[in-house]
Amino acid sequence: MRNYHGVIFDLDGVICHTDAYHYQAWKQVADELGIYFDESINNRLRGVSRMESFEIILERYDGVMEEADKIRYTSKKNEIYKKLLSNMSPADLSPEVKETLEKMRENGLKLAIGSSSKNACFILERLGLGGYFDAISDGNQIARSKPDPEVFLLAARLIGEKPEHCLVVEDAKAGLMAAKAGGMDAAGIGDAAGCELADYHLKTFHDLLTACNCEPI
Ligand code: BG6
Ligand code: MG
Repeated sequence: MRNYHGVIFDLDGVICHTDAYHYQAWKQVADELGIYFDESINNRLRGVSRMESFEIILERYDGVMEEADKIRYTSKKNEIYKKLLSNMSPADLSPEVKETLEKMRENGLKLAIGSSSKNACFILERLGLGGYFDAISDGNQIARSKPDPEVFLLAARLIGEKPEHCLVVEDAKAGLMAAKAGGMDAAGIGDAAGCELADYHLKTFHDLLTACNCEPI
């Protein structure tokens, strides 16, 4: 166990559960195009950018889609998704996540977001976490999506910490790969808890406190 100075959190599937909203929005677009889409395909979209997600969905499309249509359909997905997100409120932030973040902060850890999403700030506002994190690195600031380490390296730079002093928390294999490629330790939670790439296999969000040498709640 290292002595971490900073913790970088993925957002979707870690701080909050927007996965179901992503699924509903993609499902609507896939149905319109007559493409088969289910929860297991949706799991492959974790941590992957919006356009790369659509390319995965298009693996089952019969034909070749023009670039302009790809842009139209990904924009449509985002409109549906944002409408669903607007139902979110601070009540969607679990007390466990909130008290764990508070405890880490009391212990002097810097806290950052490292997300592929271009909606990260909007989601944080909805959850009542606008301005809470020391830094936000998201899909608007990067050229390469996870498993490339760019989003986490930027987060580490923004909090002024070396990668080896940061712990990344992820629910996606692509995210764990990105953390390791960036020279960071990684904790897997949810879908990624059992992944062999993770240095910590979290059963609950509270387990992070042990990984970061903070006293448990
Ligand atoms: C990631 C999600 O956080 O953000 C992916 O895990 C999603 O499923 C990606 O595709 C991009 O999100 P957005 O909000 O920019 O469409
Ligand atoms: Mg995620």
